[in-house]
Amino acid sequence: MTERSNSSQPHEGDGKAWSGRFSEPVSDLVKRFTASVFFDQRMAEQDIRGSLAHAKMLARQKIISAQDLADIERGMQQILAEIRAGQFEWSLDLEDVHLNIEKRLTTLVGDAGKRLHTGRSRNDQVATDIRLWLRDATDRIIGLLADFQRALVDLAEQHADTAMPGFTHLQVAQPVTFGHHLMAYVEMARRDAERFSDARRRINRLPLGASALAGTSYPIDREFVAAELGFEDVCENSLDAVSDRDFAIEFCAAAALAMTHLSRLSEELILWMSPRVGFIDLADRFCTGSSIMPQKKNPDVPELVRGKTGRVNGHLVGLLTLMKAQPLAYNKDNQEDKEPLFDTADTLIDSLRIFADMASGIRVKPEAMRDALKQGFATATELADYLVKKGLPFRDAHEAVARAVREAETRQCDLPDLPLDVLQSFSGLVSADVYQVLTVEGALAGRRHIGGTAPEQVRAAVARARARLAQA
Ligand code: ARG
Repeated sequence: MTERSNSSQPHEGDGKAWSGRFSEPVSDLVKRFTASVFFDQRMAEQDIRGSLAHAKMLARQKIISAQDLADIERGMQQILAEIRAGQFEWSLDLEDVHLNIEKRLTTLVGDAGKRLHTGRSRNDQVATDIRLWLRDATDRIIGLLADFQRALVDLAEQHADTAMPGFTHLQVAQPVTFGHHLMAYVEMARRDAERFSDARRRINRLPLGASALAGTSYPIDREFVAAELGFEDVCENSLDAVSDRDFAIEFCAAAALAMTHLSRLSEELILWMSPRVGFIDLADRFCTGSSIMPQKKNPDVPELVRGKTGRVNGHLVGLLTLMKAQPLAYNKDNQEDKEPLFDTADTLIDSLRIFADMASGIRVKPEAMRDALKQGFATATELADYLVKKGLPFRDAHEAVARAVREAETRQCDLPDLPLDVLQSFSGLVSADVYQVLTVEGALAGRRHIGGTAPEQVRAAVARARARLAQA
């Protein structure tokens, strides 16, 4: 839409659906301020889908004639083609997507176009459009979350045996496998998909029929419209149907969590790619250089995803705040729901698409991970558990190992490098078999319960995830 096409209209305000009540046109500033057509034209296809279902119902109920319906269907087909071809003239005078399309329909097919709005209001119309739009976005996101999981699962399987330090407080804690670490993100993405599926059930209910707020006196058939549009249910209270946007807030909450998970992974990728850590390298196509420092390869993509998480989280708070003081029923405040919603969906969809691609291009450097493991006494817990299995109470074992760690620190070596007699000086229970548990492989293999980091368990988790994703 351009200002040109609007200002060239001879009689501003003439097209208004409500102009009859007013003695003067609104100012240009107010017109611009109250209009939503700049952004709600994104819901044009949903608006047409909703209108066609409504018209079909009106004809079935004999509220409009079969001829009216045929005219409406013909007109809408042309409008859809115009919109898809980028030839539709959006007009600021006509405020929003709904009035733009209705006006064009009337121009094309005459009185039938004017009958379309029978028993309907823009209030239930817009609520329907957003729900249809969000349902499509939700399905797309659920699909992308599956793609992202598939990419992680493939990489996890390749690295089911690759040892790396697991961290707590960003200090080396215990050995884990890189595959296990990646599968943690698969779990997060899986819950994200569950959240979107769950939110979808509440998105997928029909507001149409609520009309402005109180329902309508025409003999409408809401169940028919719901079935036409693939809604699982109808909104059961007309006031609630036109006013609440909790389904949109839920969508944003699910999106904020999904972005937060991507942001955590981004943070790790950035750290892992730092030359100080050097655990991975990202494919060049996800990185950029510096205009001044020729040696730089910057992880811009994960940094941006981490940054964009802030705006998605902000949209969630924005929508909650938008809703919190609104009395029943519809208020114009709700027009403000769309831009944050669209931006939330766009941001998450782009981030997921790029992450699925980026994950499969991660180059892992197992030697660097192995070197890092040698620096933090990662098998200290193994030594404590070894002593416990030989009968020492855990707290005493903890103390004995802490002293062994200090000794290793003084000698600037790792625990398995301490001679047997030195280890025995901390506990008489130590014997030569201690070196088996002090190895990284021993530590990993020992954690072979479900949810543990043992390579066999990582492979089992990969198999379970694959089976789930095959059904997705
Ligand atoms: N553009 C409006 C919105 O986004 C459509 C509904 C307007 N309804 C009204 N009574 N002004 O919410």
